[in-house]
Amino acid sequence: MYRKSFYVTTPVYYVNDVPHIGHSYTTIAADVLTRYHKLCGQDTFFLTGTDEHGTKIQQMAEKKNKSPKEFCDEVAEKFKVAWRNLNIKYDNFIRTTNPRHEDAVKEVLQKLYDDGYIYKGKYEALYCVGCEQFKMKGDLVGGRCPDHKTEPEKRSEECYLFKLSSFQDRLYKLIKSDKFKIMPKERKNEVLSFIENEGLQDVSISRDKAKVYWGIPLPFDTSHTTYVWVDAFLNYLTGLGWPQDKNNFEKFWPPTVQLMAKDILRVHATIWVSILMALGIELPQMYFIHGYFTVNGQKMSKSLGNVIDPVALSEKYGADVIRYFMLSEFPFGTDGDFSIKRLEETYNSDLANDFGNLLHRTIPMMDKYCDGVVPEPKKEDLIDEDLKKIAQAVVDSLAGLYEELKFRDILADIWRLVRRTNKYIDEAAPWAFFKEGNDERLSTVMYNILESIRIITILTYPFMPETSQKIWEQLGITESLVSQRIPEDVGWGGLKVGTKIKKGEPLFPRIDLNKNNA
Ligand code: MSP
Repeated sequence: MYRKSFYVTTPVYYVNDVPHIGHSYTTIAADVLTRYHKLCGQDTFFLTGTDEHGTKIQQMAEKKNKSPKEFCDEVAEKFKVAWRNLNIKYDNFIRTTNPRHEDAVKEVLQKLYDDGYIYKGKYEALYCVGCEQFKMKGDLVGGRCPDHKTEPEKRSEECYLFKLSSFQDRLYKLIKSDKFKIMPKERKNEVLSFIENEGLQDVSISRDKAKVYWGIPLPFDTSHTTYVWVDAFLNYLTGLGWPQDKNNFEKFWPPTVQLMAKDILRVHATIWVSILMALGIELPQMYFIHGYFTVNGQKMSKSLGNVIDPVALSEKYGADVIRYFMLSEFPFGTDGDFSIKRLEETYNSDLANDFGNLLHRTIPMMDKYCDGVVPEPKKEDLIDEDLKKIAQAVVDSLAGLYEELKFRDILADIWRLVRRTNKYIDEAAPWAFFKEGNDERLSTVMYNILESIRIITILTYPFMPETSQKIWEQLGITESLVSQRIPEDVGWGGLKVGTKIKKGEPLFPRIDLNKNNA
């Protein structure tokens, strides 16, 4: 269904950890989606941020001898720096310690309490601090949390509970019918079978303030603080300025897509959606659950010392290389492995050999054959029809692939055009026409090459904004890339005859793999 507005969210990341490439993966994907939807002329809103309350953060701040707020300020800043380095352009960076967010959380809890969705009771269960979640026996492996390898604590406390169980049937039907869509399909089925097998039980939404002081006090009983997940979910509303900013809320709500990995799917698919139902607020249109990745075959962890810092990575290779690599390496919905070796191989083959080379061959030919000025195409021949057709096919498949977040396929399609254009240069051999003095054919071939590059540059822009901008400058196009529109500006023939090409720096110099990996 076509919507004029597009709203994408990432999870709010815990500040007990510094940003790593796992967080970067989700955030880059959100940025690519946003840039694409902007090119399609939609109003977009991209929300990310940090999750700053709860036991984990309280304990971490204590360990570092800092006040929790001071600690959160420091780490939240690190996330912002990482996103700047990766050229992430969010519309809002929400922090759950923001006073407006905290006030809204209190308002919501009061309303849920007044409407009878929250009651006082006792909760007894196993709790994993690492996950900040209660665990079912079936979730554990050898009595331990499979993600944190720790034994969960037995918690039994007086608390306030949310009537999650009362939403079970509605929720099941909504998910089953795709009215609330969970993608990919396997993830949807996972949630459905969880509901079928385990059922939904009422969930504790508060903690004893004496134990967890770093949280938002319940408005109706200040001896309790709000369970960090309830607080965190509401960022998706408060990040839009809700409840004060009615215009922004009306314009963008509900989220077009909420991105996350499988680690936090279940809480999102049960508690968050049920809170929205209890509040009478429209549900998100879709969750997309992307893959989880390991590094050199192992789970990223501080103790293994294999946590990859996105800032160091982007400083070494450039933001666009990381963005390209992460989204082209494996399908967005499946797990995968990250390795520097693969990154460098991909860099050399796709970026240096294919993309960079296309430009580096073309610009000098333009100088030599056409005095650096885009020539008028004079002769339509069969080969350029083929190129045109491929360009058109890539453009035509774009909307469908973006809708299913098939970033890898989108890039593969664009690269088909990149490779075809390189091949076109070989086949059309403009140097021969130059030698013969066949101006008509030479102008047509050179125009075709440049036009193909122009179209490629718009298509790669969401993934590699900096590179596209640099190529745009080398092509001498003065319009801004952001003002381009899909599909209007990616049709054949948009490049203006007479544009003056400007030689620039090589974009992707080859990496010597032997030297680097020695
Ligand atoms: N604070 C909660 C989310 C609350 S949202 C209302 C949280 N934070 S987190 O810092 O642990 O972030 C988890 C998310 O980070 C994952 O769902 C995913 O988006 C991203 N990733 C973290 N590590 C990752 C990988 N190794 N691979 C892929 N994504 C990863 O949970």
